[in-house]
Amino acid sequence: MVFPVYFFGLPEIVSNFLDKLKTSRYFFVVINYGMIPGPVLKQVEGILKENKVHLSAGFKIRMPDNYIPLVKAFSEKKQQKIFEREKSRIKEISAIIREEKHYMEKESFLFNWSLKFLYNVFLKKLSFNDRNFWVDKRCDYCGLCQKICSVNNITINDSSILWNGSCQQCLACLQWCPKEAVQYKNSTIGRVRYRNPEVKATDLLRDISKEQVKQ
Ligand SMILES: Cc1cc2nc3c(=O)[nH]c(=O)nc-3n(C[C@H](O)[C@H](O)[C@H](O)COP(=O)(O)O)c2cc1C
Ligand code: SF4
Ligand code: SF4
Repeated sequence: MVFPVYFFGLPEIVSNFLDKLKTSRYFFVVINYGMIPGPVLKQVEGILKENKVHLSAGFKIRMPDNYIPLVKAFSEKKQQKIFEREKSRIKEISAIIREEKHYMEKESFLFNWSLKFLYNVFLKKLSFNDRNFWVDKRCDYCGLCQKICSVNNITINDSSILWNGSCQQCLACLQWCPKEAVQYKNSTIGRVRYRNPEVKATDLLRDISKEQVKQ
C-alpha cells in the first residue's frame, strides 16, 4: 500500500482498512510525508498485529507538503529538488519489493511519543473540521469538488456547496478547484495551491458510476 501521513499518523480511512486486512502474503507500505512523518510504521505494525498480519517492509518517501492551511506550498524549484532526490530512492525501494525482501526504516521512539499524542487529538476533531471549509464568489458550481472527494462528503444544493461531516482532510477539493474558490478558514486566501505535476484531476475522480449503479 502507498498512502500519505496525516498529522503524524495514518489517514483514518487507511487505518480502518488495515484494521480489516487479513493476509499471509508479503505486505509492504510506502508512506509519503511532507516534513515530519511521525511514528507511522509503528502504527501500521500495531494495527496489523491485532490480525496477526506481518508487515514485511516499510518505507517513507518525502513529497512536497500539501497542508496549505498551515504552511505555504513549496516553490516549484523546491518541489523539483524533492522529486529528483526521491526518484532514486523509489528505484531502490522497488528493487527491495520486487525481491520480497524484509526491510524496515527506523523510527525514533522518544520524539514520536509526543507526535502520537497530537495525532489522537487531531483524530477526535476530524469529523468537525470540515465546518471550516467555505467557497468564495469565484465558484461557478462546476461540480468538480463533489466528484473528486473520495469519501463523497460534498453536496451541491441550489447554489451552495455543503461539507457533510465525514471529511478526511485530504484537501483535494481545495487544491483542485479550478477557480481556487475553496477556502479553509481564512488561512488559504491568496495562497498558491499544490498539485502534483504528474497527476491530473481526472486521475482522482471518484468512481461515481458504481455509486449510481448501487442506488
Ligand atoms: C491532513 C493532512 C495532514 C498532514 N500531516 C502531515 C504530517 O503530520 N507530517 C508530514 O510530514 N506531512 C503531513 N502532511 C503532508 C502530506 O503527508 C504530504 O504532502 C503528502 O506527501 C501528500 O501526499 P498526497 O499528495 O498523496 O496526498 C499532511 C497533509 C494533509 C492533507
Ligand atoms: S470545484 Fe470549485 S468552482 Fe467547481 S463547484 Fe467546487 S468550489 Fe465551485
Ligand atoms: S478535504 Fe475535501 S475532498 Fe478531501 S475528504 Fe474532505 S471534503 Fe473530501
